[in-house]
Amino acid sequence: MISRELIQHLELLNNLGVKELFLPPSSKAEILKELSIKYSTCTKCKLHTGRIKFVYGEGNPDALAMLIGEGPGEQENLTGRPFVGPAGNLLTNMLKAINLSREDVYICNIVKCRPPNNRNPEPEEREACLPYLLEQIDIIQPKLILMLGLVAAQTLLNTKLSMEKLRQTTHSFQGIKTFVTYHPSALLRNPNWKKPAWQDLQRFQAEYVKLLQ
Ligand code: URA
Repeated sequence: MISRELIQHLELLNNLGVKELFLPPSSKAEILKELSIKYSTCTKCKLHTGRIKFVYGEGNPDALAMLIGEGPGEQENLTGRPFVGPAGNLLTNMLKAINLSREDVYICNIVKCRPPNNRNPEPEEREACLPYLLEQIDIIQPKLILMLGLVAAQTLLNTKLSMEKLRQTTHSFQGIKTFVTYHPSALLRNPNWKKPAWQDLQRFQAEYVKLLQ
């Protein structure tokens, strides 16, 4: 919660002509935590009616890479954490395969409340939730984004192109280098996609490693 004293102090700085403040990196975690609490009672779309827990996102607030999925499933709705069910286990292993852990990256979804029976989030639901995701990206300022599945990719890249087309190129989302790959749930349903997904992950890893040099 921002105190009255802090607001007064910021107003004073503003009056003195200070228009921009650079926050120390550690405060990103606090900001994200505050926002997740603030939005957890959201009623902007009908998904809130089935909500047990609001699933804002988790991971390293200073992450170089953000992973964006579709929406919480059953386990995520129960725990308030993204990607903790069967698809989440696969995602954790996919990260391990490219020498990353969940703690290295920031993981979140297009919608923060579970769609009933895991259906795709509807356009109005995606639109209602989008400001939360855009704000997360703004705070974390990742250098890379990995979009998991067609819902994330088509929503954010504003396209109707197929997964086959989307995964074959690198995109720019708000100036951030962006990769698209299959959703882990899709890989569980169709193991034939694991091979192309592995190729996508390797391209993503190559860019990630470049950032460390
Ligand atoms: N599927 C998603 O897209 N996100 C989750 O958090 C879990 C499953």
